[in-house]
Amino acid sequence: MNDSLKAVELFAGIGGFRLACDRLGIETVWANDIDANAAKVYRKKSHLSNFVKGDIWQFLDEIPPHDLLTAGFPCQPFSSAGKKLGICDPRGTLFEAIVKILKWRQPQYFVLENVKRLLSMQGGSHFAAILDSLSRLGYLVEWRLLNAANFCLPQNRERIVIVGTPNSSRIVSHLATSEDFTGVSIEKSAALANFSFWNPIESHTKKFKAWGMAKNGKFYDLDLSIFSEAQPLVKLAEILEANPEASFDFTEDTLERLKSSVFVNKLINGVRVLYNQKGGSRMGYTIYGIDGLAPTLTSTTSRHYERYQVGDRYRRLTNIEYARIQGFPDDRCDCLSVYNQYSLYGNAFPPQMASWVIRKLIREESIDFSETSQQLSFLLLRRYEPFREPIPELSRWN
Ligand SMILES: C[S@@+](CC[C@H](N)C(=O)[O-])C[C@H]1O[C@@H](n2cnc3c(N)ncnc32)[C@H](O)[C@@H]1O
Repeated sequence: MNDSLKAVELFAGIGGFRLACDRLGIETVWANDIDANAAKVYRKKSHLSNFVKGDIWQFLDEIPPHDLLTAGFPCQPFSSAGKKLGICDPRGTLFEAIVKILKWRQPQYFVLENVKRLLSMQGGSHFAAILDSLSRLGYLVEWRLLNAANFCLPQNRERIVIVGTPNSSRIVSHLATSEDFTGVSIEKSAALANFSFWNPIESHTKKFKAWGMAKNGKFYDLDLSIFSEAQPLVKLAEILEANPEASFDFTEDTLERLKSSVFVNKLINGVRVLYNQKGGSRMGYTIYGIDGLAPTLTSTTSRHYERYQVGDRYRRLTNIEYARIQGFPDDRCDCLSVYNQYSLYGNAFPPQMASWVIRKLIREESIDFSETSQQLSFLLLRRYEPFREPIPELSRWN
């Protein structure tokens, strides 16, 4: 069905988007990453002769025509431009490379992925700059906060996805279903359906909500309360290796330090925290249980040494468990040392999440708010009817 669609994967890492595209029958025609280990894995596993290793800025001219652009771009702070109110300047950042490619190649769709704090960093101005740029390129832009835990992965990993589809006069959502809107008031839905009620992105100076749409420099956002496609939670215990080597166990030193830990035994955001150092916030000293989710895996080395109580063993997670928690095949990074695999898995975008998002875009499963807008605007107008009465002073002057 998607045989004719072609994708380009920027900041490809170990190919979370690539695996999703393969599964959906979308051909990846070009991919890039600057990291030598990522390049080794990508080349070995995907046999893509068009994988280019190096700084994306060196290769912009090489990027072939494509229908779908995907990118889990590194989150760099934008400089404050000070020219436009509340907006930062993306010039010189890796995000700007994405904008340049979109302008030049104008693919039909794009999917970008990033950390949750993008919505709130620098008082929302960072995300505002991103939305403003993307929405002025001729796309209807939509974003949604997703959690890997809702996609059958045993991890509390919140990620923001930003997608672009062709802009038209219609207001169409691909990432939400009508069930997601059950808690939204009629006024809010009506305002969403009517572009003239959308707010200018430029003047937004606070955190953005979990879902929203943007076009031509204006946006509308909502905190949707349910994710209607959530799957039952999978627990960490269900994916652990049966009997990993002793090299993953605690050292004597660590055991000694942990003697001063206190028993907490609480589920926090789905993660079982068993023991913690007094005060509690230093993750390095936490011991997690396995009857809940894993906390967000990251590329930070210290996080690889987080400790879990598994039966009567105290150990860190194995590289293979990292692969499973992120939704990759066990052998994805098998050409690297065990140590080097952790950061690549920690950085990756789970293919299951990528596949859900891409499917939503290309299958045209959507809610068309424009279709209901007549009815919604009618209700809204009735509510505000009194304000539409002629104001006596004005009628006298006429
Ligand atoms: C968040 S990770 C993306 C991971 C990827 N989505 C995956 O599934 O593995 C960001 C990637 O951007 C790459 N990167 C950073 N700076 C780059 C640059 N200047 N040019 C190309 N790639 C770059 C990093 O090496 C890293 O692999």
